[in-house]
Amino acid sequence: MLPLMPRDARLLPVFAGTPVDRRGRVLRDVRLSVTDRCNFRCGYCMPAEQFGQDFAFLPRAELLTFDEIALVARALIGLGARTLRITGGEPLVRRDVDQLVKLLRNLDALPELQGEPLDLALTTNGSLLESLAAPLHAAGLNRLTVSLDSLNPATFAQMSGSALPLSTVLAGIAAARTVGFHHLKLNCVVRRGVNDAGVEALVNYAREGGHTIRFIEYMDVGTSNGWRLDEVVPAAEIVARISARHPIEPIGPSRPGEVAARYRFSDGAGEIGIIASVTAPFCGDCTRARVSADGHLYTCLFATDGLALKPLVRPEPDLARLSHALRSRWEQRDDRYSELREAMGEQHLEKVEMFRVGG
Ligand code: GTP
Ligand code: 5AD
Ligand code: SF4
Ligand code: SF4
Repeated sequence: MLPLMPRDARLLPVFAGTPVDRRGRVLRDVRLSVTDRCNFRCGYCMPAEQFGQDFAFLPRAELLTFDEIALVARALIGLGARTLRITGGEPLVRRDVDQLVKLLRNLDALPELQGEPLDLALTTNGSLLESLAAPLHAAGLNRLTVSLDSLNPATFAQMSGSALPLSTVLAGIAAARTVGFHHLKLNCVVRRGVNDAGVEALVNYAREGGHTIRFIEYMDVGTSNGWRLDEVVPAAEIVARISARHPIEPIGPSRPGEVAARYRFSDGAGEIGIIASVTAPFCGDCTRARVSADGHLYTCLFATDGLALKPLVRPEPDLARLSHALRSRWEQRDDRYSELREAMGEQHLEKVEMFRVGG
């Protein structure tokens, strides 16, 4: 059977040989997790009761080295990837992560890119940003997203499950601006009855600082967070809440496959985003792949299994076999979990945890 044409083929340059999945989607964005560890214990991701002192995170020898990660990235660029996002766990707890940024920035020289630099991004909880923002910027990172669930110190502490004060994250955000990340994205996961009363305050903070804040519907990622639908604040409710204070109007995506629905303030003071994976799934345009810190490729945030890449990069790297394996996995891909969520009801799946595959 001939592969379907990508839905967004008119917008994305599809070169000969680009793999297309079983739903006509190309590969564009890759999330590279560099560690499964984190210094926070957000209840929606890594609840403290289940991830205590004795939890067995990956041993160091199991992690892909930076060279191995760069090789996987190189293979994925050959298949169409143009955005690389470094994630975790918390990526900044891995030592010298700026060195990985340098290796990835060197991939700009690949002929596939035809001189167009890679979009290199990183998602962080901000706790270590104050000192690391400068080396990351100098290494060639061009975009930074910081998670920020509340501006109320008590609610922040409750959500992050950490003793680290909110002021440290705010100082990290300020430092990032100072060193040259002029346009940050801020991510807020909204949980009913926990932080939803703080949405307006976050909008004001982001507007004043010139950042773009995105509100994320709480998702049923993994099996540990005890997700319940009644804790999800639907996107429509978040939009109504914001527009009661600041008139906003929808604008189109900045690029094909973008996860956030964008709105601009009618007074011209920037924009916000809403990531509505529960009430408005966006699987149809999903161009994302994820690589865990121990080198498994996942083609969905809600996947139950991944493709082990380590045997293809260790002990001897084999770019041709790696590319072939990645291509055939992408061509077999049929994922659309968020679209099926409701129909699947209470079915129990052993889904991968968010802290293994990044946000
Ligand atoms: P840019 O648009 O490139 O700035 O980044 P992004 O919005 O894709 O990246 P980010 O890591 O900030 O993603 C924001 C959040 O959206 C993630 O933390 C997830 O909670 C959610 N998300 C991202 N990708 C997916 C996806 O493929 N499926 C689902 N269901 N949720 C996603
Ligand atoms: N639902 C929605 N977003 C989540 N994140 C982590 N777990 C969840 C979840 N269950 C988001 C965090 C962060 C990014 C790494 O992933 O808020 O922005
Ligand atoms: Fe850590 Fe991010 Fe998970 Fe929170 S959401 S526990 S900051 S990895
Ligand atoms: Fe992509 Fe899976 Fe998220 Fe759907 S649920 S948008 S297929 S990662």
